[in-house]
Amino acid sequence: MPSILSADFGAFRSQVAELLDAGARAFHVDVMDGHFVPVITFGPRVVSSFADLIHERGGTIDVHLMIEEPERQLAEFAKAGADSCTVHVETCPHLHHTLGMIHELGMTAGVTLNPSTPTAAVAEAALEADVLLCMSVNPGWGGQKFIESSSRRLGELKAMLRPGMGLEIDGGVGPATIERCRAAGANLMVAGSAIYDQPSPGEAWRALVALAGV
Ligand code: DX5
Ligand code: ZN
Repeated sequence: MPSILSADFGAFRSQVAELLDAGARAFHVDVMDGHFVPVITFGPRVVSSFADLIHERGGTIDVHLMIEEPERQLAEFAKAGADSCTVHVETCPHLHHTLGMIHELGMTAGVTLNPSTPTAAVAEAALEADVLLCMSVNPGWGGQKFIESSSRRLGELKAMLRPGMGLEIDGGVGPATIERCRAAGANLMVAGSAIYDQPSPGEAWRALVALAGV
């Protein structure tokens, strides 16, 4: 699934449309607050600026919240058109409650964790969440190198899945790493620079889908 973090921020609609034309239907949206991670990206109003485009073609918006106190923003993202929200275990002291809020707002609930956080930290949350997201880079920037221990961590998270749950991988996913992510159990792959930093993002997306076999 394309991460629009690597797209041209001045041309989201056309950059989203290009991937819709190529066949992509799920879009990953990275929200950063300058606190939990050093970078600031954008908020719900920006999501609402392209949500109609995605929804009218049957697509979905997967919001990855790299922000402190995400509970304060969930309703706004739901209103803006988010179909799922993923929160970091490191930012949620009351994670069970936070996941419940996401569900009450009618969204799919994901939980994720930094590469240095033991996977056991999400074992209880896995009983409530719909998606476990394995960060395979330190959150904050696109274009980083895939952290090798992520394959093992995917295996640990896979063991926690209930039937129908998603296992997502985010960071450094591209032609060189996507097959091992699939082999380790990921069924939702996020790629930013491997799609949007390429001469033809649409072709790059199609090539990755073929490699991943998803
Ligand atoms: C990183 C973000 C990722 C980012 C991945 O903090 O969560 O979604 O867009 O970018 P690539 O695919 O370039 O590593
Ligand atoms: Zn992300």
